[in-house]
Amino acid sequence: MDLAKRFGTPLYIYSYKTIVEHYLKLKRAFLKIQPLICYSVKANSHLAILKILVKHGAGLDIVSGGELFRAIKAGCPAEKIVYASVGKTDREITEAIIYGILFFNVESEAELININRIAKRLKKVVQVAVRINPDIEPKTHRFITTGKITNKFGIDFKRAYKILLVKDKFSHLNICGLHIHIGSQITESAPYVFAIKRMVNFILQLRRKGINLAYLNIGGGLGIVYNKETPQTAQEFADKILPLLEESGLKIILEPGRFIVGNAGILATRVLYIKDNPKKKFVIVDAGMNDLIRPALYGAYHQILPLFKSDLKGKEKVDIVGPICESADFFAKDRVMQKVKEGDFLAIMSAGAYGFSMASNYNSRLKPAEVLVKEDKAYLIRERESYTDLIDKEIVSSIFNR
Ligand code: LLP
Repeated sequence: MDLAKRFGTPLYIYSYKTIVEHYLKLKRAFLKIQPLICYSVKANSHLAILKILVKHGAGLDIVSGGELFRAIKAGCPAEKIVYASVGKTDREITEAIIYGILFFNVESEAELININRIAKRLKKVVQVAVRINPDIEPKTHRFITTGKITNKFGIDFKRAYKILLVKDKFSHLNICGLHIHIGSQITESAPYVFAIKRMVNFILQLRRKGINLAYLNIGGGLGIVYNKETPQTAQEFADKILPLLEESGLKIILEPGRFIVGNAGILATRVLYIKDNPKKKFVIVDAGMNDLIRPALYGAYHQILPLFKSDLKGKEKVDIVGPICESADFFAKDRVMQKVKEGDFLAIMSAGAYGFSMASNYNSRLKPAEVLVKEDKAYLIRERESYTDLIDKEIVSSIFNR
């Protein structure tokens, strides 16, 4: 509550300790095979967070030129960067080749041809991993599954096999690995085990044909607790898949995002008004879907807790909504929670991943400030935006001065 008062709301608050602990949990669970853990920048791309992880030895998983820029700014060694995305532009490919990243996760034949062409022009041989679409059901929200054949990601086994058989025809590519990422917020190990088994079989099939690879990138997707889920722990996850990974004989890459930062952050908000009608009671807060879009976009559940001990007694059923002109602008619907009043502060929990990184200026709202707590100190790591930030890039004079 002190921080919310000191820095104002809405406010993202992150814990340094939790970020590092989650990274180390994963690192320790997989110690035996010493994988390269490439934190998925999209989950929370704040430079300070990238720097913390890079300092602790993490690599980075990027998906755009902007994320490459951040990775470089965070001081991430080039040989610890992997680059996915179904739509890499020539400019993005060129920048990543020049920086010398570890490899591209390539998502189509057309992209292979394009990277080969650009590499040739730059007189470089570039490492790539083929992203496989293993066509499996990860049992998560349909918007965040990525490994089904109806999803746009990756290349099916059959076509990948054909490509790999003739991989030497790409004069400036070293096709040295395979990649999968089957989805996000996956709480069980079964879909991973299934997908990795298929990958290992594929790797062995290729080996029999004399095609030897160096890397297997198993993506991210590890689920966390938002509500009543009981996701596998890092150790349980590792115990299930380590034997398979060892069988592959390849250097393993992981791309966790949410697992590291999801529960390392909250969004603090203040109650502006309470109103009711014959059917509903609404708690209107000063954060909106522009700050945290997950409930609006996926119907995602986030726990919401008062940041204080209330003087009001009892519980009630409410909708917690933001100020934006959209009915999807809610954080909770029909939620039974402790009674709150105007001016109270609430914490929207588990907001460290895909919170600020998906924030927008919709309704010309200012993006919130961000604070990082390390030991007993709070550091402002991003200022709240100002009104001038909203119009800084807009150009009107050219129209009105003619
Ligand atoms: N690797 C690749 C290739 C990915 O596409 C993703 C996430 C990750 C790694 C990291 O996944 P994680 O470990 O964080 O689950 N906005 C959605 C999640 C979209 C995930 C997109 N890709 C949400 O708020 O739930």
